[in-house]
Amino acid sequence: MSLLDNLNWRYATKKMNGNTVPQEKLDYILEAARLAPSSSGLQPYTILVIKNREVIEKLKPASMMNERLFDDVSHLLVFASWNGYTQERVDEVFDRTLAERGLPGNTMDDYKNNLLAHYEPLGKEWQTNHSAKQAYISFGMAIAAAAEQKVDATPIEGFVPDAYDEILGLKEKGLKSAVVLALGYRDEANDWLVNLKKVRTPKEQFLIEIN
Ligand SMILES: Cc1cc2nc3c(=O)[nH]c(=O)nc-3n(C[C@H](O)[C@H](O)[C@H](O)COP(=O)(O)O)c2cc1C
Repeated sequence: MSLLDNLNWRYATKKMNGNTVPQEKLDYILEAARLAPSSSGLQPYTILVIKNREVIEKLKPASMMNERLFDDVSHLLVFASWNGYTQERVDEVFDRTLAERGLPGNTMDDYKNNLLAHYEPLGKEWQTNHSAKQAYISFGMAIAAAAEQKVDATPIEGFVPDAYDEILGLKEKGLKSAVVLALGYRDEANDWLVNLKKVRTPKEQFLIEIN
């Protein structure tokens, strides 16, 4: 099946059937998420891979209208952005890149210093939002990879980030929950959305071609 076939197959599943996503499929989805591009290659986010039922139960009251979906999910992926760009975080990424490429440690100092000087005055809130934007690219990759693996994936913004941060201890880790992906398998008999047509903005309206 082509990528487009898989994207047409997927939908934002409202009712899962309780089956577990096998580890190899989960690994594939997470690897696609890890391979996502990000601004300056910083990958300024972490993915929490949650299978623990007690934790999922704790998250339910902070998950708005998605509460029912959580009863039968296999895993929840919480994409959590950095709460800001720091010298330490940026150094770690650049040090690793240079070490893995066998390049001298100071090769990218100018680039790195310019980057930090650019981000610094924009403030922590801007930085957290910028990090979250990068997380959404990874989130999109995970959605596409899940479709390829015939795993259902419901994108979720309907949750209370502060409550998630508290329950998952994200603040202590310098992270902020940005977006959630519920993984599992559709319950075809009980999902009202499963057979409804996929609707998108018509191409003529969606695109502006400048030739
Ligand atoms: C960032 C984002 C957040 C979303 N949040 C929710 C949500 O909280 N609950 C839900 O049931 N669907 C949620 N959706 C699903 C959208 O409503 C759905 O993707 C859209 O209507 C297109 O339908 P489709 O995904 O079935 O093709 C979200 C989708 C995205 C991309």
